Amino acid sequence: MSTAISFRNVTKVTTHILQEMKLKGEKIAMLTAYDYSFAKILDSTGIDVILVGDSASNVMAGHSSTLPITLNEMIYHGVSVVRAVKRALVVVDLPFGTYQGNSKEALNSAIRIMKEAGADAVKLEGGKEIIESVDRILSAGIPVMGHLGLTPQSIHKFGTYVVRATSEEEASKLLDDAHLLEKSGCFAIVLEKIPAMLGAKVTQAVRIPIIGIGAGKDVDGQVLVLHDMLGITMDFSPRFLRRYANLSEEVRGAVNTYIQDVKTLDFPNEKEQY
Ligand code: KIV
Repeated sequence: MSTAISFRNVTKVTTHILQEMKLKGEKIAMLTAYDYSFAKILDSTGIDVILVGDSASNVMAGHSSTLPITLNEMIYHGVSVVRAVKRALVVVDLPFGTYQGNSKEALNSAIRIMKEAGADAVKLEGGKEIIESVDRILSAGIPVMGHLGLTPQSIHKFGTYVVRATSEEEASKLLDDAHLLEKSGCFAIVLEKIPAMLGAKVTQAVRIPIIGIGAGKDVDGQVLVLHDMLGITMDFSPRFLRRYANLSEEVRGAVNTYIQDVKTLDFPNEKEQY
């Protein structure tokens, strides 16, 4: 039986397709997007998953952490992305304070994201501590992606953005949490900033896809924040980040040329006026 959903000749990436990719050993490519224009460009490539991450709090709104972004703001970003995407699976982050410690509130938050943004799935940070919320959301038929390791919504508990799970105790809890999320029915897990050997161990231990960001190469796929990999944000340079462009320099160059053209009366020329 095919696990693909086709509409107007576009085969939508589904959670089942991601599962098949893991089985076939085909790597999953995931990037963040927060707006219509970038989402449209991403969806015209072969990107498998687009994450409307709460990193929007940093890269779109300029906050120093992911904590301030609200559910309404995540829905706004989600709606803009979903409007542009025909093929990729769109996952939207549940923001801080909308699912921890109250599974009913978690379900309401997830339902709003599915109904109002039109997302394909939601992502939550944490393991055992939030398992009731995960179970409740899944019971409503909403696909859930987990997120373990460095979970930025808990930055005030960690106190630092250093590599997580370097101690045996934390590594063992992370592995237990991955098993728990799999047993609950999560369709995939993001592992952020952990030793590569632990990334490989978790990937072998569970059947669901593991998407890494700073979790080494032996995982089922990779995710990066779009603005970081395009060189738009230049003040963030963790070891795991590879920059594929230097867009901040390109934009500065284009804008400086424009300013010069305006000031020297070069723009607009005769062909650029009515
Ligand atoms: O919010 C985000 O961009 C994320 C990725 C770093 C995985 O959660």
